[in-house]
Amino acid sequence: MLHQTPTTQTTHGGNVWLHANPKKLKNGSFLDFSSNVNPLGPPKKALRALRESLWRITYYPEPNSQTLREAIAEKNPGIEPGNIVVGNGATELIFLHAHALLREGDQALTPTPTFTEYRRAAEAAGCRVKSIPIGPQWKLKADTILEGVEPNTKIIYLCNPNNPTGKATPKEEMLKMLEDAEERGVYTVVDESFMDMVDGEKRYSTLTLVEQFERLFVVKSLTKIFCLPGLRLGYGAGSKPIADEVMRVKPPWNVNCLAQEAVKEALKDRRYLLKTRETLRRERRHLFEALSKTTRLKVYDSDVNFFLADARETGYTSQALKLKLLKHNILIRDCGDFEGLDPYFIRISIRSRAENDALIKALRKIAGG
Ligand SMILES: Cc1ncc(COP(=O)(O)O)c(C=O)c1O
Repeated sequence: MLHQTPTTQTTHGGNVWLHANPKKLKNGSFLDFSSNVNPLGPPKKALRALRESLWRITYYPEPNSQTLREAIAEKNPGIEPGNIVVGNGATELIFLHAHALLREGDQALTPTPTFTEYRRAAEAAGCRVKSIPIGPQWKLKADTILEGVEPNTKIIYLCNPNNPTGKATPKEEMLKMLEDAEERGVYTVVDESFMDMVDGEKRYSTLTLVEQFERLFVVKSLTKIFCLPGLRLGYGAGSKPIADEVMRVKPPWNVNCLAQEAVKEALKDRRYLLKTRETLRRERRHLFEALSKTTRLKVYDSDVNFFLADARETGYTSQALKLKLLKHNILIRDCGDFEGLDPYFIRISIRSRAENDALIKALRKIAGG
């Protein structure tokens, strides 16, 4: 299906400013289950670096985040600083990449449902976007995607693990798509913004393959894993020619000095990553079982830190359920605006045990069954 109407605006989770009194956000009495950030909160080392770096704000930051690029390369054998572009969130990189490489009349493919900014970035660059529904099991299949490629297809956007379905696609399936795209001269963007939340991520990630696939650009948000969405930071990795193209259109100083310093420290904190995975394993099970057994939600199992759920058996639309939960000072993501989902789908992120239990209690009251 080819969409004629450009998407000028999109909604996202996490717009707490629209729904909550900042005092309640500050004292923790309003719970945001709509944005998918690490339930542990930011690493302490990152917070300390932020406090200790305030003196830097009277100087320009490094224009291309060079020392951070070096730190990222050190953590990821197989990629070098020259493969990396650091951005003001992964979203900036998705837009810069489209701006650098796409032209009026090109076609972009996006599986649906998926993160909506790929469509916006491609449309902003003059592309027409073709959607490819991934089907009710939410499985990204190479054959389904590749059947959609046409002579004017210039780029395929792949989100792994996918938002909002929470499913990770195995590397073999990704490789089929990357190999075929490469042969046909089609660019690929693989968004691995939630990959650090996945157990055994090496079975899924294509980050270190960027020198093997010249047209691949892997994008990663660091605001999710380090719970720093207000600070904004992400990076993209590609072959040197692709990284150079993105760098060519990137404004200087796009990432502020505080974000650069905080993330450099966060990257050193290996224990934080292990604790994140351990917490997610435990809480994913707890929340999934409690919601599946004691509410009328149909919850889809997930590989990451959020769940997609179908609310139709509760008798509420996603919008009505969101409003009901707001009365309990809880915000969930109404997924009614995701292409490929109808107005009964919601997304719930995983938080701490006490917070998850508050959500379970509220949902039992509203939609127990
Ligand atoms: C798949 C995906 N990529 C990127 C982003 C945005 O990341 P950032 O905050 O780093 O711009 C999101 C935010 O929800 C997302 O779901």
